[in-house]
Amino acid sequence: MANKRKKLTVIGAGFVGSTCAHWAASKELGDVVLLDINEGSAKGKSLDLFEASPVEGFDSKVLGTADYKDTADSDVVIITAGLPRKPGMSRDDLLATNAKIMKDVCLGIKENSPNAVVIIVSNPLDAMAYVAKEVLGFPRERVIGMAGILDSARFRSFIAEAANVSVKDVHAFVLGGHGDTMVPMPNHCSIGGAPLTKFLPQEKIDAIVERTRKGGAEIVGLLKTGSAYYAPSASAVQMAEAILKDQNRVLPCAAFLQGEYGINDLFIGVLCQLNGKGLEKVVELDLDETEKAGLENSKKAVEELVNALSQLEY
Ligand code: APR
Repeated sequence: MANKRKKLTVIGAGFVGSTCAHWAASKELGDVVLLDINEGSAKGKSLDLFEASPVEGFDSKVLGTADYKDTADSDVVIITAGLPRKPGMSRDDLLATNAKIMKDVCLGIKENSPNAVVIIVSNPLDAMAYVAKEVLGFPRERVIGMAGILDSARFRSFIAEAANVSVKDVHAFVLGGHGDTMVPMPNHCSIGGAPLTKFLPQEKIDAIVERTRKGGAEIVGLLKTGSAYYAPSASAVQMAEAILKDQNRVLPCAAFLQGEYGINDLFIGVLCQLNGKGLEKVVELDLDETEKAGLENSKKAVEELVNALSQLEY
């Protein structure tokens, strides 16, 4: 009988990729393939993770490889291949190197999993998603960037800590590009349905917004040798779960906009409905003037990066 389990491939067996495999296998999202140009790393981490399955009690196979043939017919592919940033670097400094890697990876996916939904994690996120979409040639439903869930998770954890409430009761999200111009949306946030201002003074909310914008750099500054991976991988796997289980979740993700918010042909973080097709739809919000200006600013930053891409050979 044919294998009926879902298949999830994670490209890049570094910190983010191997932690994605860990979350995905332990949630039994399907069988997991972990691919890296460093074959030993992919194989070693996969075997190690598979050997944890009897202890943790999960029935996911985990296969490590450097060969795209092993990824054939994946339902979802998460791409984490690429360099992470070091202290003092912005995500944008990774543009040229990671664009080459992204192209290489997407050619392998296109040939072996032409029907997959592809989730991009490599940075600079909005530009890498653009490269991926161009190389894959997939419709926008099947190329989606991970950033909004991560930025929102940082926002939500800081709010929960400051207000001394459960993270489960904090609803908050961040729109825009995955960089310093991201747009946290405190007016669209709530704690158990009540506005943030019922729990926190305005200056505390402002400070949390600022910390959220710099959340990635805060971790890079502490680690010194790489960037965050627990929260980024958990966020990518939440997207994969929404797709593999056809959940119709409404989550902030980077989508290729086609007219939404007056923006065309760029990946920007917006509220998305995700299901088995990938992106079901972009949910467009009514923004106030400040939020509109924030999104416009963010759009310009993403546009600059995409223009810089066109000057590069990759
Ligand atoms: N094909 C497959 N894997 C590749 C390729 C390639 N062409 N080039 C590099 N890799 C692999 C590396 O061998 C390495 O194992 O990508 C992995 C990257 O892992 P790390 O260096 O640990 O980086 P990580 O912290 O996982 O971040 C990866 O995600 O969040 C983003 O900014 C981050 O762009 C970075 C990416």
